[in-house]
Amino acid sequence: MNIAVIAGSNRKNATSTQLCRYIVKQLEEKGCQTKLFDLYAKPLPFYCPDEEQADENVRALLRTLAEADGIILATSEYHGSITGVLKNALDFAGFDQFDGKIVLSVSSAGGAVGVSSLQHLQTIVRNVHGINCPEWISIGGAQREFTPEGEPKDGKTKERVLRTLNYFTSMIAAFRGNAS
Ligand SMILES: Cc1cc2nc3c(=O)[nH]c(=O)nc-3n(C[C@H](O)[C@H](O)[C@H](O)COP(=O)(O)O)c2cc1C
Repeated sequence: MNIAVIAGSNRKNATSTQLCRYIVKQLEEKGCQTKLFDLYAKPLPFYCPDEEQADENVRALLRTLAEADGIILATSEYHGSITGVLKNALDFAGFDQFDGKIVLSVSSAGGAVGVSSLQHLQTIVRNVHGINCPEWISIGGAQREFTPEGEPKDGKTKERVLRTLNYFTSMIAAFRGNAS
């Protein structure tokens, strides 16, 4: 099973990106193949509908999404919504990358939970014909602390991540099994 993980922050050591790295590690331990696409490390130009997409990072992002069986989108909560860089990245994509795929939304917020950004992400996923995973992951407040090894310090957050990833991968397997 091939999972694309999109880290949607424009900050070097973003907690949402640290969470993505932890998620990747857990998925690989479960036997999944993963590709982490970090929008800070691979910045994209502003989306312009008038222009052909020749940019190498844009093409790499679209390829990563298209090849995936399931997709994880992670954002920092900005003004009750998703980051500008993630919205810009998603504007390059559409049905070709998302149609019929299970998508898990993940957020990191200053407040206790980032429900607004998760809901906004799920709205975008629906519009590109992705299938929203009903479970989602939000870290907020002190849950945003990680050990030097990259593990969440909060044990309940670790449990929540593992439980949600199990749900997400089971959902992908069930949908793939029923594909005609
Ligand atoms: C421009 C901006 C807007 C923010 N808006 C919110 C917000 O609406 N709600 C919230 O809980 N936290 C808000 N925060 C705090 C971030 O969500 C919080 O620091 C988060 O952990 C950042 O994620 P990151 O570590 O992935 O960059 C905001 C931070 C910035 C820089």
